[in-house]
Amino acid sequence: GARVDFHGVHQAGIGTASQDRLAFAAFDVTTKDADALRRVLTDWTAAAVAMTRGVPVPGSSSDPIAPPADTGEARGLPPSALTVTVGFGPSLFDERFGLASRRPAALEPIPALPGDELQPQRVGGDLVIQACSNDPQVAFHVIRNLARIGSGSVAMRWSQLGFGRTSATSVTQSTPRNLMGFKDGTRNIRGEDTAAMDKHVWVGDESDQDWMRGGTYLVSRRIRMLVESWDRDYLADQQAVFGRHKDSGAPLTGTDEFDVPDYHAKGADGETVIAQDAHIRLVSPENNDGLTILRRGFSYTDGIDDIGLLDAGLFFIAFQQDPRKQFVPLQRKIGRVDALNEYIKHTGSGVWACPPGLPDDTRTWADQLF
Ligand code: HEM
Repeated sequence: GARVDFHGVHQAGIGTASQDRLAFAAFDVTTKDADALRRVLTDWTAAAVAMTRGVPVPGSSSDPIAPPADTGEARGLPPSALTVTVGFGPSLFDERFGLASRRPAALEPIPALPGDELQPQRVGGDLVIQACSNDPQVAFHVIRNLARIGSGSVAMRWSQLGFGRTSATSVTQSTPRNLMGFKDGTRNIRGEDTAAMDKHVWVGDESDQDWMRGGTYLVSRRIRMLVESWDRDYLADQQAVFGRHKDSGAPLTGTDEFDVPDYHAKGADGETVIAQDAHIRLVSPENNDGLTILRRGFSYTDGIDDIGLLDAGLFFIAFQQDPRKQFVPLQRKIGRVDALNEYIKHTGSGVWACPPGLPDDTRTWADQLF
């Protein structure tokens, strides 16, 4: 039933210990009126503050001749560590609302990348809301109520539910497993590591936009796993794909999950023990001039596709200081050569600027944007 404070220097839901459930939605602004957009963001802020405190959306829910202000399904449920995080997409900064001069240079649409099999209906969006909670009903309640508050001015473009965190983002958490059965998040940045968060995640003085300092950029990728082929692959090959042992999570050159991988060690065959195309070799900071990202994704399943194969995988979420220098070059590199590519495809994508946190109830997401 824990509460996570909505207010702070940074938005909650980024450095916060990852919750178990995700409700994520991208919205397009349908109104042409900047004041209407301002009103939505103001009302969204008030609703997000209330819901993270575990109280109903502000407004009357007892007038018998009006629809209740809060839809009701979270009444009596504790917030279960609910966080509501907002982001602004590149398309919001076009000519419509006079925001062009406020667009951070780092907020560029994600370019076409190797590994893309994007479905247009799962890409982009002017606004994004990431709701995370340990209770799926509490997380869904956020998306539903914000969509309703925004109706007439914003429309949902796409949404994604996630179950099961696929990352450890706190020193208090054990490492969970992704749907390939491997421990995921072993070498992730931890929210408590403020030096790493400042270096890789929070926007600092390098930004051309003052209003983004203390914020970050969210990149989402809906990565479908080709579960049926993966499940027919033999264990040694599965382990070679990641460069780690499936059971313990240890690198193939070690025995404990947290052993540091040795990328130079060679086996009896003269080849490196961690293969040249192993996922961890390609993405590790050691092999990328120190660059890294905060991973905070969730597993998803959306039933089966039209030929009866499971549509399941990783809803990848990464936070970083500059996607042009972090996510994009990483994916450009691994999208061509990673052994994992045989078993995945990227079907959705988005990037948003997440402003810094709000200090108290007097300020809103609208004040940050305009
Ligand atoms: C590490 C799985 C996609 C970036 C890992 C690890 C696993 C994993 C099991 C090792 C444990 C750990 O340190 O967390 C997956 C799966 C993916 C996927 C199943 C797709 C379905 C991606 C993508 C990126 C990425 C698209 C970025 C473009 C990283 C990074 C690390 C990592 C930066 C940490 C490396 C280190 O610090 O040594 N991933 N990953 N992963 N992955 Fe992925």
